[in-house]
Amino acid sequence: MTSHDQITMSRLAHDRAKRVMPGGNTRSSVYEAPFPLYLKSGNGAYVTDIDGNSYLDFQNNFTALIHGYSQADVTSALMAQVGRGLSFASPSESEIDLAEILCARVPFFEQVRFTNTGSEAVMMAIKAARAITGRPKIAKCEGAYHGNYDYVEASFDAVPANWEIGAPEAKPYNSGTPASVLAEVVVIAFNDIGATERVLERHKETLGCVIIDPLPSRAGLVPIDPSYLRFLREFTARHGILLISDEVLSFRLSYRGATAIYGIEPDLCVFGKIVGGGLPIGAIAGRAEIMRVFDPSRGKPLVSQAGTFTANPLSMVAGAAAMRALTEGAIVRLNALGAQARSELNAALATSELGGHVTGAGSLFCVFIGDRKVKDYASAYHAWQQKKRISQLISLCRDEGILLSRIGLGSLSTPMGTAEIATLAVRFGRALGRLAAATPSGALA
Ligand SMILES: Cc1ncc(COP(=O)(O)O)c(C=O)c1O
Repeated sequence: MTSHDQITMSRLAHDRAKRVMPGGNTRSSVYEAPFPLYLKSGNGAYVTDIDGNSYLDFQNNFTALIHGYSQADVTSALMAQVGRGLSFASPSESEIDLAEILCARVPFFEQVRFTNTGSEAVMMAIKAARAITGRPKIAKCEGAYHGNYDYVEASFDAVPANWEIGAPEAKPYNSGTPASVLAEVVVIAFNDIGATERVLERHKETLGCVIIDPLPSRAGLVPIDPSYLRFLREFTARHGILLISDEVLSFRLSYRGATAIYGIEPDLCVFGKIVGGGLPIGAIAGRAEIMRVFDPSRGKPLVSQAGTFTANPLSMVAGAAAMRALTEGAIVRLNALGAQARSELNAALATSELGGHVTGAGSLFCVFIGDRKVKDYASAYHAWQQKKRISQLISLCRDEGILLSRIGLGSLSTPMGTAEIATLAVRFGRALGRLAAATPSGALA
């Protein structure tokens, strides 16, 4: 046990925050009761809170910081850019550099367009699909997270009462979502070809796109089944629907992104997080014939996109430095560490009376406790019903100096090595033991 239960300054900071922000919070995903940990610095794989406690960080800002903190190339690129200017009302060469790096990496990325966030990139890709096809509807998987755009928020947190075999209705995520938005969203069941085909058949004439996350975090961080992805590719191509791969989280799975692993080319790819080197970013990429929907050189484009901070030089230089450092070898090494982490955590869970298992791929993992095998949104949803217990486990890990996200999601960063994975395994095992000791027998059934 470390002294991480000695957290006073964060509580005080949260009291201050509550006076000026609703619930003391300005980013729902980091809300935590009674108060979150306030961090003040990071270095390599470690972060320090405002009480001075140090943690081995597997959050990495929800997977965005693939190089952890203060990576030398990213830091010096940023320092140099700070001296040259923060942002301009004109393009800068730094955006060409990052676009060239990305296009050189992924064969079907002929052109790229930047945004400030993954959410915005998803929105622009959907607008592109609607403009190209002249069709309004989108299809998305139940439970999949694609950011804040109203249409993709639909059915993000659908509850079992909404599950009608093979045809879950689009449900609002936020109160006030217009019914007209939900009417344009078709909800499909991840990795279920039969059910998905039945739904898509009914809407194929009005569908502009199918958006898919090859490793959906909220659907249990279970990799897409290759046959499911192939089916979606064939169905969309046959019916003139665009296939959008949302790789905001999963671009890190291989040097060429996630769908490349399956040898499948979507019409558009959306990404973000790691390609900004830790600064805000989103991007859309694809073949030039599709990307020209954004081209303003022949008058008003079909889809116009601006944004005061779009392609700001700080994000561009940080992204370029991060991507250059993320070589094919670095990804292979990180993915091997990911396999080691999943295997060691699985071993700890297998010997615990609480049961559980770890999902994920590449350098991402997600911890579940209990007997239920997580294979899709429905099973992940049920497992997360044991939220209180998972949340207790994550808090106990924090007491051990390990940071994981509240849903049990973890990501690796390049400063980590086998020693950090061993540390994770030992401390996770201890946290699990303490949770088991505090859990009445039969409580998990
Ligand atoms: C798959 C996926 N799509 C989109 C987003 C939204 O990206 P951002 O938070 O940059 O808006 C996320 C964020 O976690 C994501 O995981």
